[in-house]
Amino acid sequence: MVCLGNICRSPMADGLLLRKINEQQLDLKVDSAGTANYHIGKAPDLRMIKTAAAHGTPIDFLRARQFDKQDFKNYDLILVMDESNYNDVVRLASTEEEKQKVDYLLNYLQPGTNAKVPDPYYGTQQDFEAVYDLLDRATDALIHKITHEH
Ligand code: 4NP
Repeated sequence: MVCLGNICRSPMADGLLLRKINEQQLDLKVDSAGTANYHIGKAPDLRMIKTAAAHGTPIDFLRARQFDKQDFKNYDLILVMDESNYNDVVRLASTEEEKQKVDYLLNYLQPGTNAKVPDPYYGTQQDFEAVYDLLDRATDALIHKITHEH
C-alpha cells in the first residue's frame, strides 16, 4: 500500500488489511510505504489513528518508511492511492514485470477507473472518515478478489 507520506492513507489501508487478514486467518503479507521521505519513522497522523480506532482498527503501531525498489522484489502487488503515487512508483520499476505489479487500490472497488483515494492531510475530520470508509470497502473488495482467484 503506497501513498505520499505513509502517515494517512497507506497506513490506514495497511491496518485494515492486517486486521482482516488476522480475522479471516488469510496467508497474506501486507506493508505500506510512502513515495516521499518527509515522515520516515513517524507514527500515522493522529487524526487517522483516532478515526481508525473509533472503527476498531488499530494503526498506532505502524511506522512510516519510504518506498524502495526492493519492494518490487518483495511483493506481488503494489497498490497506490493516486496518480502521482502511480507515476512515482512506476518510475522506479526496472522491468515491465515490475511495472505490471503496480495498480490503483480503488480499481478493486471501481474496476478500470484509476480512481484516487483523496489525500485527507489538509482536510477535515469528515475527510478522514470518508477515507476510512473508502479504504474499508476497497480492502474488502481486494480480499474478495484474492481469495476467489486462488
Ligand atoms: P498521505 O498524506 O500521503 O496519505 O500519508 C500526506 C501526508 C503528509 C503530506 C502529504 C500527504 N505532507 O505533505 O507532509
